[in-house]
Amino acid sequence: MSAVSTASEPEWGAHLADELERLVALHDAATIAAVIVEPMAGSTGVLPAPKGYLKRLREICDKHGILLIFDEVITGFGRLGHAFAAERYGVVPDMITFAKGITSGAVPMGGVLVRAGIYDAFMQGPEHMPELFHGYTYSAHPLAVAAGIATLDLYREEGLFERAKKLEPLFADAAMSLKGLPGVLDIRTVGIVAGIDLASRPDAVGKRGYEAMERGYHEHDVMMRTAGDTLALSPPLIISESQIGELFEKVGKVIKAVA
Ligand SMILES: Cc1ncc(COP(=O)(O)O)c(C=O)c1O
Repeated sequence: MSAVSTASEPEWGAHLADELERLVALHDAATIAAVIVEPMAGSTGVLPAPKGYLKRLREICDKHGILLIFDEVITGFGRLGHAFAAERYGVVPDMITFAKGITSGAVPMGGVLVRAGIYDAFMQGPEHMPELFHGYTYSAHPLAVAAGIATLDLYREEGLFERAKKLEPLFADAAMSLKGLPGVLDIRTVGIVAGIDLASRPDAVGKRGYEAMERGYHEHDVMMRTAGDTLALSPPLIISESQIGELFEKVGKVIKAVA
C-alpha cells in the first residue's frame, strides 16, 4: 500500500478506516451502538486524521446504522481554525462532545451536540417530565454558563477561530523549524496544535518526554503536555506571532537540553 494516493487509488486514511468493517464483521453491527473518534487524536500524541479517514468512517457507520460521534473536547471551538473539526474535515457526525474551549478552560463545563433525529427521540416523552433526566449536581451551573457565554462572545468579537486559521501556516513553520534537532523523530501540526516525537531513551520510554515537560515548565515558563515521548503543544488562540516564535525557540532549547 502506498502512502501517496492517486486519483484511481483510495486514500490511505480510507484504508485505515476500513478496519472498522473488519470489526463490524467480527462483532455484528447490531452490537455496535456508536463509533467515537477524535478528529485529531490529542492525548495519544497529536495524530491528525489521515486524508479520507473520517469520510470513510462516516460511510461505514451509515451503511451499518452505527452512530458516529466526534470527541471534540480538544478540537472544538477554533483549535483547528474552524468552530469544530467536523467543519474542517467536511464530515458531519451524529454527535459532538465538547468541553475545554467552551469556557476557554476557565470553568469546568462540557456538553454534547446531537443531530435533530436524536434530539427528537428524547423529546417524545410526556410534557410534565424533564426530557433527559440525568441530574448532575452541577448541570448548567450559572457560573459555568456565564463563562461559556462570555467566551463565545469573545470568540466572535475577536474573530479567534479565523485568527487560528490565519496563524496556522506560521505556527506550522515555527514547529517545523525544530526538525533535525537531536532526538527529534517527527513533527506534526494541525491548526494551533503541534506534536513533536522525541526518541525514547533506551529502556525508559517516556523519560525524555517527562524531562522535557519539567524543564519547559520550570526553566522556560512553557507548559507542554506529554504522551510518552511526544511533546504536545496547544497554546491559547490569542497567541501572537512573536510569541509563537518565542514558544518554539524555548521548546528547541528544551529539546537540546534533554538530548
Ligand atoms: C479528547 C478528550 N476527550 C475527553 C476528555 C475528557 O473530558 P472531560 O474531562 O470534560 O470529561 C479529554 C480530557 O483531556 C480529552 O482530551
